Amino acid sequence: MQPFRVFNGKVNNKATKVFKGEASGICDWDDIKYPSMLTLNRAMFSNYWIEDEIRLNEDLKQYRHALSEDERYVYNVSTGMLTQLDSVANRFNFLLGYYCTDPSVAANIQLIGAFEGLHARSYQYLTATMLDSNEKKQAFNAPKEIPLLVERNQSIFERIQTYVDDPDSLDKMYDALLAYLVLEGIYFTGTFAYFHSLARSNRMIGSNNMINLIKTDETQHSVFYGELMQILMLENPELNTQERLERSLAFIKACVEKEKTWAEFLFKDIETLSLDEYKDYVEYLTNLVCRNSGMPEPYPDNQELKSKWILTYGSKQGTKADFFQTNVINYSHESGDGFDL
Ligand SMILES: [Fe+2]
Ligand SMILES: [Fe+2]
Repeated sequence: MQPFRVFNGKVNNKATKVFKGEASGICDWDDIKYPSMLTLNRAMFSNYWIEDEIRLNEDLKQYRHALSEDERYVYNVSTGMLTQLDSVANRFNFLLGYYCTDPSVAANIQLIGAFEGLHARSYQYLTATMLDSNEKKQAFNAPKEIPLLVERNQSIFERIQTYVDDPDSLDKMYDALLAYLVLEGIYFTGTFAYFHSLARSNRMIGSNNMINLIKTDETQHSVFYGELMQILMLENPELNTQERLERSLAFIKACVEKEKTWAEFLFKDIETLSLDEYKDYVEYLTNLVCRNSGMPEPYPDNQELKSKWILTYGSKQGTKADFFQTNVINYSHESGDGFDL
């Protein structure tokens, strides 16, 4: 099995195919098969951030004094679960990049992988700031201990593992990519709504600011992976069959049902987020994932976002501005009067 050639001077810099193709190995961004890869690479790099940008002083107080026990439980389990998904994403991207022939696409996959690593670190920052050791155990053992969560994740991890065990198979790669789209676009992004709902009730604003930085990355990842899925079908027409499309939609719908069942358990005592609006939101996200990757929308009733507040509290406007402002204030304080740059 030959994953990729580091250098082949006899062929073009422009890859013939994204997977199982030929390319010289030289990443010349002016000579790539899919110019949108450069746009995406620039966009992702321009989003660079680190977790220390987010202040959690108020969150620290509110976690202890303004959240109910049920709300704390959901906060803990959600951060542990998100950490698990990001940990898987980090490794999955590594493998996919390794088998990618096109250096520009591989560069994007590797960058996404690196961001997933940063996301896992961000949840560590949230939990290390607020949770005591028992709460941390509750958070990070949740993906192993809560049967509904284990079951929800099982179907996507199984597909990803099947590909990891046989990375030469395009069939298995397709199945893993589909599972990964569910992981990113539905399981991940759906859970963020809980943090938006806390911010809507004027609590845990710092945590929600961090979630929104992560969410901006995830939105780009979804766009990238939707595009990659379409490229995969274009370059490998044998994958592009009606039968596969139907099977894919059935898989996605089954994943959505598992998410709804999980949500019924997780959010049952949460007042800031109703189950009906969460289920509508999950269907809306699923439509987005399908549209991005060239599939028909499975939930025509949820083409529009019904709970507009999710957008209001679920986008990063202001987060960065606050950070820069804070930085400027700190800087002038530290440098003192009369310091001449
Ligand atoms: Fe992530
Ligand atoms: Fe991601």
